[in-house]
Amino acid sequence: MLEVVASIANLRERLLPMRRAGKSIGLVPTMGALHAGHRRLIERARQQNSAVVVSIFVNPLQFDRNEDLARYPRPLDDDLTCCRELHVDFVFTPSAAEMYPHEQLAIVDVPQLSEHLCGAHRPGHFRGVATVVMKLFQIVQPERAYFGEKDAQQLAIIQRMVEDLNLPLTIVPVATVREPDGLALSSRNRHLNEEQRQLAAILPTALQAARARIQSGERSAHVIQTAVAPLFDRHPGLRLEYFSLVDPQTLAPVSYIDRPVLIAAALWIGSTRLIDNLTVSPIENGQPPLSSPRTSTATEAPPAKLRSP
Ligand code: PAJ
Repeated sequence: MLEVVASIANLRERLLPMRRAGKSIGLVPTMGALHAGHRRLIERARQQNSAVVVSIFVNPLQFDRNEDLARYPRPLDDDLTCCRELHVDFVFTPSAAEMYPHEQLAIVDVPQLSEHLCGAHRPGHFRGVATVVMKLFQIVQPERAYFGEKDAQQLAIIQRMVEDLNLPLTIVPVATVREPDGLALSSRNRHLNEEQRQLAAILPTALQAARARIQSGERSAHVIQTAVAPLFDRHPGLRLEYFSLVDPQTLAPVSYIDRPVLIAAALWIGSTRLIDNLTVSPIENGQPPLSSPRTSTATEAPPAKLRSP
């Protein structure tokens, strides 16, 4: 039976006997407006744990634009129906006052990883994410917590936080769930009108195009970025925020692709901002790359140590 708990003290009280009985607890942190992407995380948690807690909290600390926070969808009844269907044990729905009774002075910051990609465009966002996730971990004390690869930078930051602070839990990454045309499911998709929804497929299409180029031998990030850029110029309603090729662990930009690379992009469609990513490994097929480090037109210098042939 699903229990909806809004108070931290009550949730702790309900979870304590389970922990004492040696039952594993899986946590799925969300901001609600649950869709098939969230469902996949919850299903995975259900398979791997005795008890599943889904938190639904639209975290003010991670919103840099007040309009964004105000217009974030909050369909709580639908979310509870979804959690009931998936046999969730507890839905944690704290208010902002419950989570932040006074100004939050203790902050979790994972600086270098937060500076790239979305972090460069949303100052303070990942500090807000890391801080609320840390609080949720302390409140629930799960054995496992589930995060989507859709938010690759968020996942990398949380994984590093867990490692650096020796948190006693396992982070379980879950693959991105997509619509048939490739668009990653997101609660922001509901802000798109029909025309914008059609246009949105350009984002996964461009990522796939970049992947295809890497797999057919292209090694210069700059060449790939230059090749996909025109796809986004086709419509005045589209504005590309970034299209970056980065190291999957450090998230630092890569100029010469000789190991797995994370391709990540953020695209504005009207006033809606969508993000997506995929990881690609260059195929070692013995063929010479299309652009070698010496002839590459990349603006950044290739890494000092290139892999020997
Ligand atoms: P939210 O956007 O609600 O996402 C909750 C979780 O669902 C995140 O781990 C996210 O990566 C995952 N998710 C979203 N869309 C997905 C998709 N299409 N496929 C797979 N997983 C998907 O991310 C947040 O909330 C917040 O930042 C939070 C971590 C809860 C902290 O406030």
